[in-house]
Amino acid sequence: MENFVFSNCTKIVFGRNAEEQVGVETAAWADKVLLHYGGGHIVRTGLKARVEESLKHAGVSYIELGGAQPNPRVSLVREGIKLIREQGIGFILAIGGGSVIDSAKAMALGVQYEGDVWDFYSGKAEPKEALPLGVVLTIPAAGSEASTGSVITNEDGWLKRSCDHVILRPKFAIMNPELTYTLPPYQTACGVADMMAHIMERYFTNVRDVDLTDQLCEAALRSIIKHAPRALEEPQNYDVRANIMWAGTIAHNDLLGTGRIGDWASHVIEHELSGIYDLAHGAGLAIIFPAWMKYVYKHDVARFVQFAARVWGVDPDYHDPEKTALEGIRRLEEFFKRIGLPTRLADADIPDDRLEEMAAKCTGNGTHTVGNFVKLTEADVLEIYRLAV
Ligand code: NZQ
Ligand code: ZN
Repeated sequence: MENFVFSNCTKIVFGRNAEEQVGVETAAWADKVLLHYGGGHIVRTGLKARVEESLKHAGVSYIELGGAQPNPRVSLVREGIKLIREQGIGFILAIGGGSVIDSAKAMALGVQYEGDVWDFYSGKAEPKEALPLGVVLTIPAAGSEASTGSVITNEDGWLKRSCDHVILRPKFAIMNPELTYTLPPYQTACGVADMMAHIMERYFTNVRDVDLTDQLCEAALRSIIKHAPRALEEPQNYDVRANIMWAGTIAHNDLLGTGRIGDWASHVIEHELSGIYDLAHGAGLAIIFPAWMKYVYKHDVARFVQFAARVWGVDPDYHDPEKTALEGIRRLEEFFKRIGLPTRLADADIPDDRLEEMAAKCTGNGTHTVGNFVKLTEADVLEIYRLAV
């Protein structure tokens, strides 16, 4: 096992009516905040009004900025930074999913920096300070509510890039599973694929003797696999939604990555897809992850056999371990299909005429590799895109 430091400062307030506590939680940080949200589902469901009521009750005033899109754009982040500076705001409250939270995180970084906020995503600048932020989560998926990451798309070149730093962890996350009842089935499924991917990125490691986190990863995956189809059949089943929601946070708050070196190639390879084609990130992962697995499984067949046996219940074939490994990958792909996700580029109407461009972009024109389990070159990445056609 590797050495590690694990510190997660995000206070989780979880359960029915949890959003009623948003005023009190926010008031502990600031008396004037930016309320940031997305395309407006929170207006339609009445959540926004309830949050505003709670803020008013706690004596917190607010300025609003809606319009964060899935695959959030840097242009809105710049607008938010300007607004925060003009209004002298010291705290951001994000209401929504990963896109809103990541957009809020980017604003939190940019406000404290004299240059352009994109510098943090292009690697030109290192985060040093950020405004504090809090979250009311409405979709279990990205895990951004307790993660160190923020992923932003720059319309100039359609580059989707991430920035990671502990100062980006939200101070609190309000999580009421009832808020997820209104999710369309496709968004529920995309969220499931994303949280599974966050676990699998950590699971496929070259670090030895990580049995505890191996088993935690496997248990979390089995629980998601059990509950996801039920969430689609019974969208208003509280306990099913609650199990999925908590899994989404645990998948990415990095407890499951302690002592391990995760892979993360599939994420980097996927970000090129959602950056260019504006696909939901989870759908992109359902396409890329099985292709990545097919390309790399021979690197450590035993680990893929363990994944097949312990996560998917495949009976190991001791004479033909590769067969078992491939059966695990097949079951993952079948599962994604069963919950309504694309598993090939064609399923998502993505043409195969820009694969070279994406392979070049994600490896900096071949100047660096991606992933840790297997270090993939530009040519390897291109093969993975081809396997996903
Ligand atoms: O815009 P609104 O109106 O809020 O609607 C959203 C959006 O259209 C809708 N939605 C959310 N909650 C809902 C709801 N509709 C009905 N009822 C509800 N309760 O769902 C749509 C998708 O929302 P989005 O925030 O885009 O989803 P998600 O949470 O999957 O976030 C995806 C983004 O997070 C990034 C992804 O790359 C992508 O840009 N990621 C961020 C990470 C991080 N910061 O740690 C890690 C991840 O790997 C990921 O890359
Ligand atoms: Zn993800």
